[in-house]
Order: sequence, then C-alpha cells, then structure tokens
Amino acid sequence: MGQSKNVLLICGGGGTEHEISLISAKYITSKLSLIPEVKIIYLCIEKNGRRTNEINQECELRKAGEVFNRETQETISLDYAIPCIHGPPGENGQIQAVFELMGLPYLGAGPEASINCFNKVSTKLWLDKLGIKNTEYVFVRDSTDSSVEKIFNFFEKNKKDIFLKATHQGSSVGCYHITEENQIKEKLHKALELSPIVLAEKTNIGRELEVAAFEYQNELIITPPGEIDCPESFYSYKEKYNSDSKTETRAIAKNIDNQTIAKISEMASNAFIGLGLKDLARIDFFLLEDNTPLINEINTFPGHTPISMFPLMMENSGVKYEEYLRNRIFNS
Ligand SMILES: Nc1ncnc2c1ncn2[C@@H]1O[C@H](COP(=O)(O)OP(=O)(O)O)[C@@H](O)[C@H]1O
Ligand SMILES: [Mg+2]
Repeated sequence: MGQSKNVLLICGGGGTEHEISLISAKYITSKLSLIPEVKIIYLCIEKNGRRTNEINQECELRKAGEVFNRETQETISLDYAIPCIHGPPGENGQIQAVFELMGLPYLGAGPEASINCFNKVSTKLWLDKLGIKNTEYVFVRDSTDSSVEKIFNFFEKNKKDIFLKATHQGSSVGCYHITEENQIKEKLHKALELSPIVLAEKTNIGRELEVAAFEYQNELIITPPGEIDCPESFYSYKEKYNSDSKTETRAIAKNIDNQTIAKISEMASNAFIGLGLKDLARIDFFLLEDNTPLINEINTFPGHTPISMFPLMMENSGVKYEEYLRNRIFNS
C-alpha cells in the first residue's frame, strides 16, 4: 500500500441538505477510519459561512491545496478531497471547480458533469440526446402568462396530474405534485423562488428504483436495482429522513425480470459514461407498469446516512465501502 495521505472530508455547505451532509460525513468518517494510511482532515462549511474543524476551530481552505488552522496557525497540505455535500456547493460543481484550481484530486464527478446532473433540465436534455428514456416534460424560466399557459396546457394534456420541480434542488425541496389547476400558479412561484428554471413532468405511475453506479478497480459497476417503496406516492423530504417515515427501502428490488434489470443497467451505464461522470453516482429510475424504465435523476453525491441506499447497494454487491474509498484515494 502507498504512503499515508491527508484526506480532506468537507461537509455541510449551509444549504437545504446541510444536516443530511453531516450525517453522511459521519458514515464516511467511520469508513475512512478503517484505512490506516489515511489521515482525515475534517472541515465543515457552517451555515454562517465559517469553516471549522471537528473541534470547532476556525480553518481556511487555501488555494495551494492546504488547510490553515487560524487558531493553532498550523498548515496541513492535502492529498485528496471528498466533497461530502448534497446540493450546493457540493453537487453543483462549485467545490469541484475549486479543487481543480488547486490541483487537488477528489472523489466524484467534475464541475461540468456535476452541474449537468444537478440541473434537472440539463440532465434531461443530455439524456434525450443520448437516447436514454426519461419522463415527458416542459420547462419555464419565469411566471409570465405564456409560461403559465405552457404549464397549464401540459397539465391538461397529462390528465391533470403533473409534478412541478425547482430544477436546482434535491431532497424533494421545491418538488410539488399538482392535481388541481389552481395549484399551478402558486407552486410555480414557490419553485421559482428556489431555482431559476422550473420543470413540469408527467406523473409516472409505477415503482421507484435506484442503482449505485461506481468505478472500482478500473471497472464501472452498476448494482442491481434497489427499491423505494413509498406509500404516499411522493417520496418527500420528510419521508426521506424522518424516523417515523413509512417508506420502505430494499437494497434489492423484488420481482423484476432479468431483461428489465439488464435494461436498467445498460441505461445507467450509458448515462454514467454519456454525461461524463466519475467515481460514483446514484441513478434513480421509475419503472412504469408496462415495465418501461425511465431515468428520473442522477445524484452525483448521494446520501450516505444509515438509511441511504447508495452504500447499502454497494456493500450488497460485494464491495466494502472502505475498500472502495481506499481504491479511489490511492489510485487518484
Ligand atoms: N414525474 C414523476 N412522477 C411521479 N413521481 C414523481 C415524479 N417526479 C418526482 N416524483 C416524486 O417526487 C420525488 C422527488 O423528486 P425527484 O425528481 O427525485 O427530486 P429530488 O432531487 O428532490 O429527489 C421522487 O422520489 C418521486 O417520489
Ligand atoms: Mg430524487
């Protein structure tokens, strides 16, 4: 094994998924701790913008690829970074651009692939051109009469049952199920407060499946699909993270024929390669009642909480998370 490495674990970010990021960081810390050659350099971007280490000392990330501790005046030079942040500035390519400028190798997709996956409309435009099926949609950038009309017409065309989504959000923030005409304007305004583009999608009836896609030992591995079984038919923020959630998750979805599994795997692999992803992604699908899989979204830094599917699916496929991290860190 190679010599020891200083690995920056950066978390928080101050966005809507700040708390989830801290829980994910705990999981990743526990796995990094199993690698003796790794020294964890923890840095949290607090909600107030301060950067603090695990004992709350104020630190600075410096452009030479170093962490400077303002209290002890100590400088630690970094060898690798793990941006454990869901949503901005971790999943939208910002922090990756900073690492690129620093020349610091890091886990996960680069800035361009990150933003393309974070913006739900960009993802769909890419998927369309790559010939990968996704849900029918329209999108708008404002709430002018013509934009409202565009969504209204789409609503009428799709049996008065659609989803409106803020494009640059995750964890179901700014995502609304619309079944009444009078909800359209209000929810459009709300979604526009959260992101510059709003996506309208036809409501899919079927199952919600996810695969873990990850690179390991020079191979792209796509796990068999896991399933999110949500009785509310909408996997909301509350359902995702509350302890009294009624949603069941299964690391291996039941009763899916091999042909469909192969199709899902092919779509995930084409999306991973076609969108230029790196290291890891959780790719989410709808499986329609007629067995057609559609890609819903691509998460470039999926949740790593105790109930999150990504690490579970990876470990189920026979790769221990710490071995995966070791492989990434020491082959970067
Ligand atoms: N077109 C759709 N049809 C049916 N359900 C949907 C649709 N779009 C979103 N949902 C529901 O809303 C949830 C959140 O939407 P999603 O696009 O995955 O956004 P997020 O990035 O917030 O997870 C999904 O897990 C699903 O339960
Ligand atoms: Mg989702």
